[in-house]
Amino acid sequence: MHCIKKINNDLYWVGANDRRLAMFEGVYSVAGGVSYNSYLLTDEKTVLFDTCDKAVHQRFLENVSYALNGKKLDYIVVQHMEPDHSAALKEVIKLYPGVKIVCSAKTLVFIKQFFELNFDFENFSVIVNENDTLKTGRHTLQFIMAPMVHWPEVMVTYDTTDKILFSADAFGTFGALNGALFADEVDIEKDYMNEYRRYYANIVGKYGDQVQSLLQKASSVQIDMICPLHGFVWRNNFSSIINKYMLWSGYRYEEKGVMIAYASVYGNTENAAEILSCRLREKNIKTAMFDVSVTPASEIIASAFKWSHLVFASTTYNAGIFISMEDLINDLVAHNIQNRTVAIIENGSWAPTSGNLIREKLEECKNIKIIEKILSLKSSLKKGQLNEIDGLADAIAADFPESARSSAPLNSANEGDNASIDPNAMFKFSYGLFVLTAKDGSKDNGCIINTAIQITASPLRISIAVNKANYTHDMIIKTKAFNISILSESAPFSIYKQFGFSSGKETDKFAGCGYTDRAANGILYINEHANCMIAAKVIESHDYSTHTVFTAAVTQSKVLSNERSVTYQYYFDNIKPKPQPPKEKKGFVCRICGYVHEGDSLPKDFICPLCKHGAEDFDAF
Ligand code: FEO
Repeated sequence: MHCIKKINNDLYWVGANDRRLAMFEGVYSVAGGVSYNSYLLTDEKTVLFDTCDKAVHQRFLENVSYALNGKKLDYIVVQHMEPDHSAALKEVIKLYPGVKIVCSAKTLVFIKQFFELNFDFENFSVIVNENDTLKTGRHTLQFIMAPMVHWPEVMVTYDTTDKILFSADAFGTFGALNGALFADEVDIEKDYMNEYRRYYANIVGKYGDQVQSLLQKASSVQIDMICPLHGFVWRNNFSSIINKYMLWSGYRYEEKGVMIAYASVYGNTENAAEILSCRLREKNIKTAMFDVSVTPASEIIASAFKWSHLVFASTTYNAGIFISMEDLINDLVAHNIQNRTVAIIENGSWAPTSGNLIREKLEECKNIKIIEKILSLKSSLKKGQLNEIDGLADAIAADFPESARSSAPLNSANEGDNASIDPNAMFKFSYGLFVLTAKDGSKDNGCIINTAIQITASPLRISIAVNKANYTHDMIIKTKAFNISILSESAPFSIYKQFGFSSGKETDKFAGCGYTDRAANGILYINEHANCMIAAKVIESHDYSTHTVFTAAVTQSKVLSNERSVTYQYYFDNIKPKPQPPKEKKGFVCRICGYVHEGDSLPKDFICPLCKHGAEDFDAF
């Protein structure tokens, strides 16, 4: 029986999941299964994006047939010839005679290599090059070459009509979809980010430059949805995955901390690694430990892509590096690991040599700083060597300023329990209100924020916090530039309504707004009811779950009036109309925008659909 998912009026997911596969590509364990995504566009012409693995081809073919609903298949876009996405190509061609194959020239070569077809497929092929387009009716598809993400023939497709990026292997993950399709239907950070990282590091980790090139190309277009060949479809919150891709492809660490991988035959090398880990934890430095003989290499490689510092502890074996550690080091070098600080511990009962051999291999990688002194054990760590462990811990800790240390583990106990936290205390902060604006291509957008401060005067730096649900947030992630207009007390409620209570995705925030000007960075700002404008360029961003905090350099600023800046309190007391809950009904009204949620209860995780504030900002009536 078919099992498809409708994405929008004319786009369907027609892929399939496999939970029986033990090892993806014969190398990577996939305990959570894997999805093979394929998409069918039912425009005036019908277009299938890739096929699937042979293990699930029957379900896939049923899905395609059902979604076509009797229509003929006009095109199949082959973005990637790896058999997990092309194994069913031959059957599709047989089942839908006359279907045209749209692909790169390199893909055609691979099709000939993989299949013997009694079919004059060259006459049924449309070879596309960079930025070529295909009009299918309402939609226009643009093809963008993405060589080595993950094979040389790879291309991605941009639907210029619905702003959808069909991203091939990019932005994918291991793991079956389990009934969901969109990334926002699951908890990506908690349940899937490790797998996204493991997939990235192992499948395309070697090709960081090529991934960056694709990110660069993608940044020039507006993206409203990303449809990868594995894992979930992204329809919002793009920054959470794009930020990771920027870090991973630049071989920059995600977190300051130490990954310790050890290979130990009788437990003595492990013992030294454990003691080092304890010393680091005593200095409030995060550590993650792996026994390389037990944990699959793909997990350790993913961890190496996450942490800033790496420790390798290995016994000597046959005058070389212990087998599982040697495999891991070779794998890491092959995956192009860069920009890390490394410490080494070696062991050997008569001739410890593994340390220098590890060093030699890692020196092949770019920008790997190896702590000079290798801790060398003879069979086991001796009391007299504890000071060497301390020395190694000190050498690593020298890279960790206090701000990079976890002074206490983040858990609910030390965040404070409900009895010790009065949420009303947060309302005593004195916030201002600001129109935050950004520009992406020809699209101008803006929203209201309440968190913007000057951090330092020299150099001149400011910081803003922006809710990730705001479209302006995604534009800033992409363009790294924004303006803020500091609203004054004369700003009428209509300004807050115009910029704060709708999404720029659906509306033009500046429609009918006759009080704007453009700054030197090309971004609009409000020149009435604002007492100044500040233009800024992002130099750093930090992910805080619901919000991103951007730190930025000021590139332009101008005083527009001498009116007083509005405060949050002033807005509530003097500007915002008092909410008028409907009579004789029960419900909750948003203190921020007046939105009314009818009913006896309000879910704790409720988010106001207008202003995106949470349940804590609602009053019962
Ligand atoms: Fe999922 Fe590179 O294939």
